Order: sequence, then structure tokens, then C-alpha cells
Amino acid sequence: MKKTALLVFGVVLTIVNAAAQTPAKTSTSKSAKTQPAILQQKALEAASAVAEQAGERVKVVHQFAPLPYAFDALEKAIDAKTMEIHYDRHHRAYFNNFTKAIQGTEMEYLTLEQIFANMSKFPVVVRNNGGGHYNHELFWNIMSPDGGGEPTGKLAEAIKAQFGSFDDFKKQFEQAGAQRFGSGWAWLSVGADRKLFISSTPNQDNPLMDVAEKRGIPILGLDVWEHAYYLRYQNQRGSYMSAFWSVVNWKAVGKLYEEALNR
Ligand SMILES: [Fe+2]
Repeated sequence: MKKTALLVFGVVLTIVNAAAQTPAKTSTSKSAKTQPAILQQKALEAASAVAEQAGERVKVVHQFAPLPYAFDALEKAIDAKTMEIHYDRHHRAYFNNFTKAIQGTEMEYLTLEQIFANMSKFPVVVRNNGGGHYNHELFWNIMSPDGGGEPTGKLAEAIKAQFGSFDDFKKQFEQAGAQRFGSGWAWLSVGADRKLFISSTPNQDNPLMDVAEKRGIPILGLDVWEHAYYLRYQNQRGSYMSAFWSVVNWKAVGKLYEEALNR
């Protein structure tokens, strides 16, 4: 059986000969640099296309990326203990449960986005934990200790065009988070019409999933599960959402916006 480890854009893939009857062994690399899941998808899809042309299948090796900053780095909005529990227990559990759930199935050969696009056909355990892994990785990467302020460039223009002003956008986004009953997320996404839209999803769903009410490519997400804010804010979800803006990494969000437009 022909197997080749391939490092593409920092993502480790295992190429397996299509004729192979036995499942491929996975491989990991210490040199595997982490990226937001949304950026990994593009690299994986490009690599998959090449491998498929060569008659090979690509087994995706998902990574539990390091948090891009220290637990106490976002103290102005999120306390260190919450960050530690959120990343090291909640996110890690989603990741572990997701990789366990797809083991030995066809889903091992699909990127997260490919799984999400066919979410309704796959088990709920994959929906909850695959969504949980993707959503949290995006969340960590659209925040920064140097965040805050306002978006610039094309994203700033698009927000103004779509929502009237940055303040109006923030109000509508916070409203989406406030109206989510129970656990879920508030999102800013790019729709198929290339326009921005705000939405909210329950549990660990996201706008990439075929089960989402409104589908698109998320570029900003806010976790409104109580585990994201309860230690400091208790039941005051509104205060947590207001503080969130002080750590948003608009540079990263702007990059995701431009990538979404270029798809
Ligand atoms: Fe969370």
C-alpha cells in the first residue's frame, strides 16, 4: 500500500492509495503549524483535488491547535480561569469526541467543511463535536489581546453598506446573541450573494452546516454558551457581549472576509 505523508500549509495529510482495503494509519508532525480551521479547509481541499486526480485518497488529520495567546491575555473581556476551562476542557473534549466519532468512517476522508455541507446525513455526535471543534478554533483566532477598535478596509465598507454603521452592526449582532435561547452562537457571515449577514445558531451548529437556517461562511463568531462567560458575568450575557468587542481581532476577521469573497 502506498502511503505518503504530505505537509500542506502546515496541515498534515496522509495520502493513501485508492486500491487500499485497510484503513490508513494517521500521522502527525511536530512541525505542523496551526491555522484557523477555516484557513485549513482551503489547503485541505486543494491538496485533496491534487490527490484525487492522482487516484489517491486523502485522510484528514485534524489538529487541536495551541491557544494563540496566554489564558490571561484577554482579561479585559474574559478571565483567565474561564479561558483555561473553555479551551483546555470544553474545546479539547469536542475535539477528542469528534475525532473518535469519525474514526473508521468515510468522514475521515472529508474536511470539516465537507462534513458540515452534508451534516444532515451524519450522526448528531459529529454535528455537536465537529461543530464544537470548528467553532471554538475560529473563536480563539478572531480574538487577540491587541484587539478592539473598528474594522478597516473592505470589511468596514461592507459593514457600513449592510448595517448602516459599525454601531448598528454591533447592536444587531448583540441582539442575535441575546435572543439565542439557551446555548449557541452569534455569527457574522458571508452569504452566497457575497453579502454580510448576522445570524444565530443553537448548540454547536454553524452557518456552514446544511441544517443552518441561513447558510454562509462565518468570519466572526461569539460563543454565548454559559461556559463562555458565567464565572465573571454570571447571568449577564449582555455584559459579556459588550466586553467582547474590546478583544475582537478585526485584522483576522478582515482576512477571513477577503478569503470568503475569493472563494
Ligand atoms: Fe464554548
